Amino acid sequence: MLLRPKHQIEADQVHVWQVLADNVPYTDGLRAHLVETELARMNCLHHAKDRELFLLSRVLMRSVLASYLDCPGCDVCFACDNHGKPTLHADRHRERLRFNLTHSRGAAALAVSREREVGIDVEDRRRKVEHMALAERFFAATEAIHLRQLAEEERADAFFAIWTLKEAFVKGIGRGLAFPLEAFAFDLERDLLKAFRPLADFVSPEWHFQQFTLGDRHRGAVAVQQPKGSTVTIEFRDWASAFLASSRGEGFA
Ligand SMILES: CC(C)(COP(=O)(O)OP(=O)(O)OC[C@H]1O[C@@H](n2cnc3c(N)ncnc32)[C@H](O)[C@@H]1OP(=O)(O)O)[C@@H](O)C(=O)NCCC(=O)NCCS
Repeated sequence: MLLRPKHQIEADQVHVWQVLADNVPYTDGLRAHLVETELARMNCLHHAKDRELFLLSRVLMRSVLASYLDCPGCDVCFACDNHGKPTLHADRHRERLRFNLTHSRGAAALAVSREREVGIDVEDRRRKVEHMALAERFFAATEAIHLRQLAEEERADAFFAIWTLKEAFVKGIGRGLAFPLEAFAFDLERDLLKAFRPLADFVSPEWHFQQFTLGDRHRGAVAVQQPKGSTVTIEFRDWASAFLASSRGEGFA
């Protein structure tokens, strides 16, 4: 059974709702919460695990946004900005909530804010990738140099730390991976707030970043627009315990 709690969010807050697919073993009943276009997109996915995570991500997004908008999940209506970033449909919702979704290998998270642009990314840190080859091709030179200096066993974690920070930022500004990842750099050894160095003068440096973990496999980062002089509080919340009536899946709606 999917619950319909009500939530509120203040102007200086960001709520990050997280879910691990392993904590929601009975997902079939959740299909009823998707609209037809979403079901069609889900059914195009080849692997059962991908279909399950897509379903869970969509239910996470609809149920969480509905809890702030105080409407049924299926009434949440989406649009996209010029670069494809999902937004609330302005004609259907008076409330101007900002949000961003991420999902990767059994984990999903949604960042919600009232006024600030937000971006979020989660990655499975066990994913096998050529860390140095990717860093040298896509990251800023200082980041690649930092990774090269690390011991082999530290490199994968540092790579995903930088990757998720970068992706959270490009999703925050709505440009996605079309934005050059070498145009800005993080320095993991410095305070995160100071670590963002925009090399591209058309991007405002006023962003706040926070890293997090989800279970023992996933690493994530959230980027929040933070005008000078303002504060931001980021709160992490577990979706399953707030929205599922029973973690054993009895009678999902
Ligand atoms: C958006 C993007 C960064 C997602 O990266 P990812 O690691 O695969 O996926 P994540 O799980 O973190 O995020 C996916 C979610 O981000 C959101 N999203 C989509 N476009 C977005 C954008 N431009 N900005 C912010 N968020 C976006 C969606 O909710 C999406 O969920 P969905 O795929 O289930 O619809 C990437 O797909 C992208 O850059 N796309 C747009 C640009 C592009 O296509 N460039 C290719 C040519 S260079």
